[in-house]
Amino acid sequence: MKLISIVCQKGGVGKTTIVVNLSSMFSKKGYKTLLIDLDPQGNVSTYLNFDKNREDITNSTNLFENTKKINPGYLDENYYLIPSNIKISKHNEEKIAAGSKLKKLKEEGVFNDYDIVFVDTPPTMSSLVQEAIVFSDFYLIPTKAEFLAIEGVGQAMEFANTTLKTTPNTNPVFLGVVLNQIFEETDSHKDFVNELNEILGEKLLKTKIPHKTEIAESPLYAKTVIDFNEDEEIFSVFSDLAEEIKERIGLNEKST
Ligand SMILES: Nc1ncnc2c1ncn2[C@@H]1O[C@H](COP(=O)(O)OP(=O)(O)OP(=O)(O)O)[C@@H](O)[C@H]1O
Ligand SMILES: [Mg+2]
Repeated sequence: MKLISIVCQKGGVGKTTIVVNLSSMFSKKGYKTLLIDLDPQGNVSTYLNFDKNREDITNSTNLFENTKKINPGYLDENYYLIPSNIKISKHNEEKIAAGSKLKKLKEEGVFNDYDIVFVDTPPTMSSLVQEAIVFSDFYLIPTKAEFLAIEGVGQAMEFANTTLKTTPNTNPVFLGVVLNQIFEETDSHKDFVNELNEILGEKLLKTKIPHKTEIAESPLYAKTVIDFNEDEEIFSVFSDLAEEIKERIGLNEKST
């Protein structure tokens, strides 16, 4: 089991879009995939037209309240969701103790049924995001391809580093930065990518996600872009991203 959280305090950079489509892609590649929403906004559920207030399944608030076993909602073959709603806000101001609540759950093996677990987080520097970072094996920072976004990436990296320094026995790996909402190759865009490359080197993911109307529209139809647009460029972008991440995290090939 590998656990990856998507973090960035900057709003609207594509955390939810990426985590939904990437997790859907892994499930379609045959990996048993769990998506956990830790954002009080509950956008993952809205994206997937899933009732975030269902009481018959585990929600993200339950994870903080002595759950011993999880019962996620079923989305599709190999694809499960622990949704979030506003109730999780009450866990947003807790101080991280040495050994977070979510980390303890993970160590107890609660997520071991899954090949891969993705976590969506709110656009804040809050203890919910710290919880996510601390219990992850890897964390990924998405950014828009805008000049000012470089600052947001730096702040997110610093927040993660500070969190990890103050929490003993945690060792998630910084998976890297994924560029989202790329417009066509203008000169200023190339300068931007070059600058990011210089700062990040290896940590800038090779796969870059284009700005596409279909991506913005897909939640309207409660479908991932992958369901919506099987043969198109977007399918291959998320497939490439999944392959790149598989390699970076050392996930075994699925022999199906
Ligand atoms: N590659 C893309 N092409 C077009 N639209 C996109 C793309 N990525 C994201 N969007 C749109 O940008 C908006 C913000 O995306 P999203 O909700 O995924 O960001 P977020 O980082 O999760 O936001 P928040 O910080 O509020 O949780 C959404 O309307 C989404 O549809
Ligand atoms: Mg979001």
